[in-house]
Amino acid sequence: TGPKPLAGRKAIVTSGPTHEPIDPVRYIANRSSGKQGHAIAAELARLGADVTLVSGPVTIPDPKGVVVIHVERAEEMRDAVLAALPADIAVMVAAVADWRVATAAGNKIKKKPGEAPPPLLLTENPDILKTVGHHAKRPKLVVGFAAETQNVAENGRSKLERKGADYILANDVSPHTGIMGGDRNTVKVIGKSGDEDWPEMDKQAVAERLGRLIASHFSG
Ligand code: C5P
Repeated sequence: TGPKPLAGRKAIVTSGPTHEPIDPVRYIANRSSGKQGHAIAAELARLGADVTLVSGPVTIPDPKGVVVIHVERAEEMRDAVLAALPADIAVMVAAVADWRVATAAGNKIKKKPGEAPPPLLLTENPDILKTVGHHAKRPKLVVGFAAETQNVAENGRSKLERKGADYILANDVSPHTGIMGGDRNTVKVIGKSGDEDWPEMDKQAVAERLGRLIASHFSG
Protein backbone atom coordinates (compact mmCIF):
# COMPACT_ATOMS: atom_id res chain seq x y z
CA THR A 1 0.00 0.00 0.00
CA GLY A 2 0.96 3.65 -0.28
CA PRO A 3 1.97 5.63 -3.36
CA LYS A 4 3.65 3.73 -6.19
CA PRO A 5 6.05 6.23 -7.81
CA LEU A 6 8.01 3.38 -9.41
CA ALA A 7 5.01 1.60 -10.96
CA GLY A 8 5.92 0.36 -14.43
CA ARG A 9 9.67 0.59 -13.70
CA LYS A 10 11.95 -2.41 -13.66
CA ALA A 11 14.78 -2.68 -11.11
CA ILE A 12 17.67 -5.11 -10.70
CA VAL A 13 19.28 -5.38 -7.26
CA THR A 14 22.29 -7.49 -6.26
CA SER A 15 22.80 -8.50 -2.65
CA GLY A 16 24.88 -10.71 -0.40
CA PRO A 17 28.36 -12.09 -0.88
CA THR A 18 29.62 -14.35 -3.62
CA HIS A 19 31.26 -17.69 -2.86
CA GLU A 20 34.19 -18.58 -5.07
CA PRO A 21 35.03 -22.29 -4.89
CA ILE A 22 38.50 -23.58 -4.06
CA ASP A 23 37.29 -27.17 -4.30
CA PRO A 24 33.87 -28.76 -3.75
CA VAL A 25 33.97 -28.07 0.02
CA ARG A 26 35.92 -24.82 0.39
CA TYR A 27 35.40 -21.29 -0.88
CA ILE A 28 36.57 -17.67 -0.69
CA ALA A 29 33.93 -15.11 0.30
CA ASN A 30 33.31 -11.60 1.58
CA ARG A 31 31.58 -10.64 4.80
CA SER A 32 28.07 -9.67 3.78
CA SER A 33 24.72 -10.53 5.32
CA GLY A 34 22.57 -9.31 2.43
CA LYS A 35 20.51 -7.19 4.85
CA GLN A 36 21.03 -3.89 3.02
CA GLY A 37 20.51 -5.24 -0.49
CA HIS A 38 17.44 -7.24 0.46
CA ALA A 39 15.92 -4.20 2.23
CA ILE A 40 16.47 -2.10 -0.91
CA ALA A 41 14.89 -4.73 -3.16
CA ALA A 42 11.84 -4.92 -0.89
CA GLU A 43 11.53 -1.13 -0.72
CA LEU A 44 11.70 -0.66 -4.51
CA ALA A 45 8.97 -3.29 -4.83
CA ARG A 46 6.89 -1.47 -2.22
CA LEU A 47 7.24 1.69 -4.33
CA GLY A 48 5.76 -0.21 -7.27
CA ALA A 49 8.84 -1.38 -9.20
CA ASP A 50 9.06 -4.79 -10.82
CA VAL A 51 12.17 -6.03 -8.95
CA THR A 52 14.61 -8.82 -9.76
CA LEU A 53 16.93 -9.53 -6.84
CA VAL A 54 20.09 -11.46 -7.67
CA SER A 55 21.35 -12.77 -4.37
CA GLY A 56 24.52 -14.57 -3.36
CA PRO A 57 24.39 -17.11 -0.51
CA VAL A 58 22.67 -15.52 2.53
CA THR A 59 20.80 -16.85 5.55
CA ILE A 60 18.02 -14.25 5.49
CA PRO A 61 14.68 -14.98 3.79
CA ASP A 62 13.74 -13.86 0.27
CA PRO A 63 11.90 -10.52 0.43
CA LYS A 64 8.23 -10.62 -0.49
CA GLY A 65 7.00 -9.28 -3.81
CA VAL A 66 10.36 -9.67 -5.53
CA VAL A 67 11.67 -12.21 -8.07
CA VAL A 68 14.76 -13.73 -6.46
CA ILE A 69 17.53 -15.44 -8.42
CA HIS A 70 19.97 -17.30 -6.16
CA VAL A 71 23.57 -17.57 -7.32
CA GLU A 72 26.88 -18.55 -5.75
CA ARG A 73 29.72 -17.19 -7.85
CA ALA A 74 30.44 -13.73 -9.30
CA GLU A 75 30.27 -15.02 -12.86
CA GLU A 76 26.83 -16.48 -12.17
CA MET A 77 25.75 -13.19 -10.60
CA ARG A 78 26.97 -11.27 -13.66
CA ASP A 79 25.14 -13.63 -16.03
CA ALA A 80 21.90 -13.31 -14.04
CA VAL A 81 22.14 -9.50 -13.94
CA LEU A 82 22.81 -9.22 -17.68
CA ALA A 83 19.96 -11.63 -18.42
CA ALA A 84 17.63 -9.36 -16.42
CA LEU A 85 18.40 -6.32 -18.62
CA PRO A 86 16.86 -4.08 -19.85
CA ALA A 87 15.87 -2.29 -16.66
CA ASP A 88 15.26 1.28 -15.54
CA ILE A 89 17.16 0.97 -12.28
CA ALA A 90 20.18 -1.06 -11.13
CA VAL A 91 21.30 -1.07 -7.51
CA MET A 92 24.41 -3.18 -7.04
CA VAL A 93 24.76 -3.89 -3.34
CA ALA A 94 26.43 -7.30 -3.42
CA ALA A 95 29.87 -7.72 -1.89
CA VAL A 96 31.29 -9.48 -4.91
CA ALA A 97 34.61 -11.29 -4.40
CA ASP A 98 37.21 -9.42 -6.41
CA TRP A 99 39.07 -12.64 -7.17
CA ARG A 100 38.27 -16.27 -7.74
CA VAL A 101 40.53 -19.30 -7.76
CA ALA A 102 41.75 -19.64 -11.34
CA THR A 103 41.10 -23.39 -11.55
CA ALA A 104 38.92 -24.74 -8.76
CA ALA A 105 39.73 -28.38 -7.98
CA GLY A 106 37.09 -30.90 -9.02
CA ASN A 107 37.73 -33.00 -5.92
CA LYS A 108 38.52 -32.09 -2.34
CA ILE A 109 42.17 -31.09 -2.01
CA LYS A 110 43.68 -33.56 0.44
CA LYS A 111 46.10 -32.60 3.18
CA LYS A 112 49.14 -34.82 2.82
CA PRO A 113 51.51 -35.23 5.77
CA GLY A 114 54.82 -33.47 5.19
CA GLU A 115 53.65 -31.59 2.07
CA ALA A 116 53.54 -27.80 1.74
CA PRO A 117 50.08 -26.17 1.72
CA PRO A 118 48.67 -25.80 -1.81
CA PRO A 119 49.14 -22.36 -3.39
CA LEU A 120 45.98 -20.57 -4.52
CA LEU A 121 46.32 -18.90 -7.90
CA LEU A 122 43.70 -16.15 -8.14
CA THR A 123 42.20 -14.47 -11.17
CA GLU A 124 40.05 -11.34 -11.36
CA ASN A 125 36.27 -11.60 -11.26
CA PRO A 126 34.04 -9.54 -13.57
CA ASP A 127 33.04 -6.17 -12.13
CA ILE A 128 29.26 -6.34 -12.42
CA LEU A 129 28.58 -2.70 -11.53
CA LYS A 130 31.17 -1.49 -14.04
CA THR A 131 29.75 -3.78 -16.72
CA VAL A 132 26.20 -2.49 -16.13
CA GLY A 133 27.36 1.13 -15.84
CA HIS A 134 28.95 1.00 -19.31
CA HIS A 135 26.48 -1.37 -20.97
CA ALA A 136 24.66 -0.62 -24.23
CA LYS A 137 21.46 -1.33 -22.27
CA ARG A 138 22.57 0.76 -19.28
CA PRO A 139 19.64 1.41 -16.94
CA LYS A 140 18.68 5.08 -16.61
CA LEU A 141 19.77 5.03 -12.99
CA VAL A 142 22.75 3.00 -11.77
CA VAL A 143 23.61 2.94 -8.07
CA GLY A 144 26.59 1.24 -6.42
CA PHE A 145 27.93 0.87 -2.92
CA ALA A 146 31.49 1.31 -1.74
CA ALA A 147 32.61 -0.40 1.42
CA GLU A 148 35.76 1.35 2.51
CA THR A 149 37.96 1.40 5.58
CA GLN A 150 39.73 4.65 4.68
CA ASN A 151 39.39 7.74 2.42
CA VAL A 152 35.67 7.05 2.04
CA ALA A 153 34.80 10.16 -0.01
CA GLU A 154 37.81 10.04 -2.34
CA ASN A 155 37.50 6.33 -3.02
CA GLY A 156 33.75 6.65 -3.51
CA ARG A 157 34.09 9.46 -6.05
CA SER A 158 36.69 7.63 -8.11
CA LYS A 159 34.43 4.58 -8.06
CA LEU A 160 31.50 6.71 -9.30
CA GLU A 161 33.49 7.68 -12.37
CA ARG A 162 35.28 4.41 -13.03
CA LYS A 163 32.13 2.34 -12.77
CA GLY A 164 29.78 4.67 -14.63
CA ALA A 165 27.35 5.00 -11.72
CA ASP A 166 24.95 7.85 -10.98
CA TYR A 167 25.33 7.43 -7.23
CA ILE A 168 27.70 5.62 -4.93
CA LEU A 169 26.60 5.02 -1.36
CA ALA A 170 29.92 4.87 0.44
CA ASN A 171 30.31 3.56 3.94
CA ASP A 172 33.10 3.02 6.40
CA VAL A 173 33.15 -0.68 7.22
CA SER A 174 36.08 -0.59 9.65
CA PRO A 175 35.54 -3.28 12.30
CA HIS A 176 34.72 -0.72 15.03
CA THR A 177 31.67 0.53 13.05
CA GLY A 178 29.82 -2.81 13.28
CA ILE A 179 28.25 -2.17 9.86
CA MET A 180 29.22 -5.54 8.38
CA GLY A 181 26.47 -7.92 9.45
CA GLY A 182 24.90 -5.28 11.69
CA ASP A 183 21.51 -3.59 11.39
CA ARG A 184 22.71 0.00 11.12
CA ASN A 185 24.55 1.92 8.45
CA THR A 186 26.12 5.35 7.99
CA VAL A 187 26.45 6.33 4.36
CA LYS A 188 27.82 9.18 2.34
CA VAL A 189 25.90 9.58 -0.92
CA ILE A 190 28.25 10.56 -3.71
CA GLY A 191 26.55 11.90 -6.84
CA LYS A 192 27.62 13.76 -9.95
CA SER A 193 26.68 17.09 -8.40
CA GLY A 194 28.11 16.57 -4.92
CA ASP A 195 28.16 14.57 -1.71
CA GLU A 196 25.55 14.23 0.99
CA ASP A 197 26.09 12.73 4.43
CA TRP A 198 23.17 10.74 5.74
CA PRO A 199 23.04 10.30 9.50
CA GLU A 200 23.44 6.87 11.05
CA MET A 201 20.21 4.93 10.58
CA ASP A 202 19.10 1.34 10.27
CA LYS A 203 19.44 -0.47 6.97
CA GLN A 204 15.68 -0.33 6.43
CA ALA A 205 15.80 3.48 6.72
CA VAL A 206 18.70 3.62 4.25
CA ALA A 207 16.55 1.58 1.86
CA GLU A 208 13.60 3.97 2.30
CA ARG A 209 15.69 7.06 1.78
CA LEU A 210 17.37 5.57 -1.28
CA GLY A 211 13.92 4.60 -2.56
CA ARG A 212 12.82 8.25 -2.30
CA LEU A 213 16.00 9.43 -4.05
CA ILE A 214 15.46 6.93 -6.88
CA ALA A 215 11.76 7.81 -7.18
CA SER A 216 12.65 11.51 -7.47
CA HIS A 217 14.47 10.70 -10.73
CA PHE A 218 11.34 9.23 -12.25
CA SER A 219 8.81 11.84 -11.21
CA GLY A 220 9.12 14.19 -14.19
O1 C5P B 1 35.29 -1.84 -6.35
P1 C5P B 1 34.39 -2.15 -5.20
O2 C5P B 1 34.21 -3.64 -5.00
O3 C5P B 1 34.74 -1.47 -3.93
O4 C5P B 1 32.98 -1.56 -5.63
C1 C5P B 1 31.83 -1.76 -4.89
C2 C5P B 1 30.63 -1.66 -5.78
O5 C5P B 1 30.82 -2.38 -6.99
C3 C5P B 1 29.40 -2.29 -5.15
O6 C5P B 1 28.27 -1.63 -5.65
C4 C5P B 1 29.48 -3.72 -5.65
O7 C5P B 1 28.22 -4.35 -5.66
C5 C5P B 1 30.00 -3.53 -7.05
N1 C5P B 1 30.86 -4.63 -7.54
C6 C5P B 1 30.38 -5.45 -8.55
N2 C5P B 1 31.20 -6.43 -9.05
C7 C5P B 1 32.43 -6.61 -8.56
C8 C5P B 1 32.92 -5.78 -7.54
C9 C5P B 1 32.10 -4.80 -7.04
O8 C5P B 1 29.24 -5.28 -8.97
N3 C5P B 1 33.20 -7.56 -9.05
